[in-house]
Amino acid sequence: MNRKGFIFDLDGVIVDTAKYHFLAWKKLANSIGIDFTEHQNEQLKGVSRIESLKKILNWGNVTLSETDFNRLMAEKNENYLSYIAKMDDSEILPGVMKTLEFLIKDKQPIALGSASKNSIEILNKVHLFKHFDAIIDGNSVTKAKPDPEVFLKAAAAINCSPETCIVFEDSVAGIQAANKANMISIGIGNQTILNEADIIFKDFTEISTDFLQNLLSVTKSELKKK
Ligand code: BG6
Ligand code: MG
Repeated sequence: MNRKGFIFDLDGVIVDTAKYHFLAWKKLANSIGIDFTEHQNEQLKGVSRIESLKKILNWGNVTLSETDFNRLMAEKNENYLSYIAKMDDSEILPGVMKTLEFLIKDKQPIALGSASKNSIEILNKVHLFKHFDAIIDGNSVTKAKPDPEVFLKAAAAINCSPETCIVFEDSVAGIQAANKANMISIGIGNQTILNEADIIFKDFTEISTDFLQNLLSVTKSELKKK
């Protein structure tokens, strides 16, 4: 058996939490007189909570004291968590379970590599926590994607060397982080936006078991040549 390491981003890959981030950021932005659109929300994908708030304040040309900044961060998360509290398995994105089941059956190591500080809460809500051999998230890293820290730590946590790892990501920063870590980068989403990925799928329903089987024996450079 070929042992690889499979690292999944969470938001936008396993579950569509972007819609909840949008509602919570919009409420916060509007409360301080800043407009917030879906287009702006797109630009916050993969971006940490603190950097997201900085961007929103920048868009609205608003400066806050440190106390107000921290209060708003806490309020946003409280509001976001009220949506997370209602999540269940039905929010696992289409095709994700089939991929996970293939990997579990083949006893492949599985890790999470996410910027979120709420990852364990979310994985528990959708009943996927038990399938992850390691969780590296916003609580365990000091440098945000596109820095490769999150994926290098995830690889180490599942005892895999980076070049044997495969990353599933929906953000540009995440794809760049995977590439910097010398891992196979699989983009989930838009072909044009994620063009730095080694290979791109619209969503997991496009990933066949033949493709997964092939991943077990292919290197990053071999995959790119295909
Ligand atoms: C990323 C999301 O996965 O996590 C971002 O794409 C989010 O939108 C970031 O800001 C941090 O998440 P959280 O749950 O710690 O606020
Ligand atoms: Mg993501």
